[in-house]
Amino acid sequence: MTVNGVTLETDNHTSGVHTNALDALRSHGLTACKEGCGEGECGACAIMVARPDGNDADRTRWVPVNACLIPAAALDGQEIVTAEGLGTPSDLHPVQREMAERGGSQCGYCTPGFVCSMAAEYYRPETEKPFDLHALSGNLCRCTGYRPIKDAAMALGTGADADTDARAARLREPAPGPAPTDVHAGDARFRRPASLSEALEILSDDPSIAVVAGSTDHGVGVNLKGERPADVIAVDRLPELRGITVTDTYLDIGAAQTLTEIERALGKKVPLLGQLLPQFASRLIRNSATIGGNLGTGSPIGDTPPALLALEASLVLTSVGGEREVALCDYFTGYRRSVRQPDELITRIRIPLPLSPLTAFHKIAKRRFDDISSVAVGFAVDVQDGLVTKARIGLGGVAATPVRALETEAALEGAPWTEETILAAAEILRGEGTPMSDHRASSAYRSAMLGTSLERFWAEQQRQQEVRA
Ligand SMILES: Cc1cc2nc3c(=O)[nH]c(=O)nc-3n(C[C@H](O)[C@H](O)[C@H](O)COP(=O)(O)OP(=O)(O)OC[C@H]3O[C@@H](n4cnc5c(N)ncnc54)[C@H](O)[C@@H]3O)c2cc1C
Ligand code: FES
Ligand code: FES
Repeated sequence: MTVNGVTLETDNHTSGVHTNALDALRSHGLTACKEGCGEGECGACAIMVARPDGNDADRTRWVPVNACLIPAAALDGQEIVTAEGLGTPSDLHPVQREMAERGGSQCGYCTPGFVCSMAAEYYRPETEKPFDLHALSGNLCRCTGYRPIKDAAMALGTGADADTDARAARLREPAPGPAPTDVHAGDARFRRPASLSEALEILSDDPSIAVVAGSTDHGVGVNLKGERPADVIAVDRLPELRGITVTDTYLDIGAAQTLTEIERALGKKVPLLGQLLPQFASRLIRNSATIGGNLGTGSPIGDTPPALLALEASLVLTSVGGEREVALCDYFTGYRRSVRQPDELITRIRIPLPLSPLTAFHKIAKRRFDDISSVAVGFAVDVQDGLVTKARIGLGGVAATPVRALETEAALEGAPWTEETILAAAEILRGEGTPMSDHRASSAYRSAMLGTSLERFWAEQQRQQEVRA
């Protein structure tokens, strides 16, 4: 990989297949990026990676990611910038200068990570919008406090001059493509196949192989749970799992699209996703996390399933034997279990069109941002001539799998779209699922939140109608 313009031999470091990019960089003396948590929560390890800019493959975007979660081998052939590569003490980068002059750094432990997230936002190609403070949502500071950091960000703005700034000029050239990789270390192996067919052949030969995409779950397993799969294949850059296609009847999202890419492409076109995605983890996590990975975990508290259930999405599952389409409501079979066979990959997520006009996504968590859901609810409702003609409600956090609220949907359909209907349906919704008590929430709280969520949905829709009128 190329780091700050210098090529580093990745098999030269203390590496194994499970060495993350943070440890690999530090073993080369690049100690600006720090380990705070090792689980994607603090951003002390943030680095910038050159990635293709959306659909424009001829241009680059600097994307900040958590180096503690990404296997170093996954960055084979890639171009990286760390805080050391931005500026030097005698020639500070504008981000570093603003942070220093506005008192944005005290002990300095978090600073290189903040600087990388901030620089990526500074280089954002869409210069018409002001600096988005949510770009820093994955970076924590324990001692300075956020006001001076915010001051530095706001003073900075966006839009570096490509004539004088090499990192800005870099945006005009294509980013490195995925490099087919095959790294052996000890008994372990990491492969990045060049094509879907190659990946499927590997999986067909040995379905027990660990599949990794953005590594935001995989990396936590390696760092905190000591998971050391002997054989890993990376699928996040497979061309067949990338891209978004819109036809007259459906919208097709590649399983390896990151959540940030989906947010950018569909945030306005699919309002339910536009509401969900900013509430999902942090910008740093969303820059790596894929939609296929969120479904691949089979977690009952993943945030995309409730929204995708409400949107009546289906999954395309592909193996060497061919592909099949499974409705998401038939996909989950038990706690972290699904109908997906070990030799199958999720390749696409398909959302039927047209979309229902009334939608919402409610995430109930202990913190407003950067937290895992206690309960999540997706709504998609059609109303014609005052009657509910269709209601789809997806729930997360209230059963061993994400579920549809079938009884509530049935109670709403055919009923008048009135407060009375909603209050009666909210009572039914409180009884859906089999919520349990854990450290996030009690079962009683989870049930109560379901009913509240429907009442809130109604209130939001009434408010929007008033605004429209
Ligand atoms: C700090 C932090 C905050 C988080 N916050 C949230 C949150 O708010 N909401 C939420 O829902 N999740 C959250 N997560 C969990 C995680 O980010 C998501 O589940 C994410 O979508 C996983 O995607 P990934 O590409 O990183 O998956 P990976 O970690 O690469 O893989 C996850 C699993 O999916 C499988 N997989 C990946 N791609 C495929 C595929 N194409 N076909 C079949 N299987 C596949 C892998 O084998 C693995 O089992 C958080 C994680 C962290 C570390
Ligand atoms: S070390 Fe905390 S996010 Fe990586
Ligand atoms: S400056 Fe000390 S943690 Fe941020």
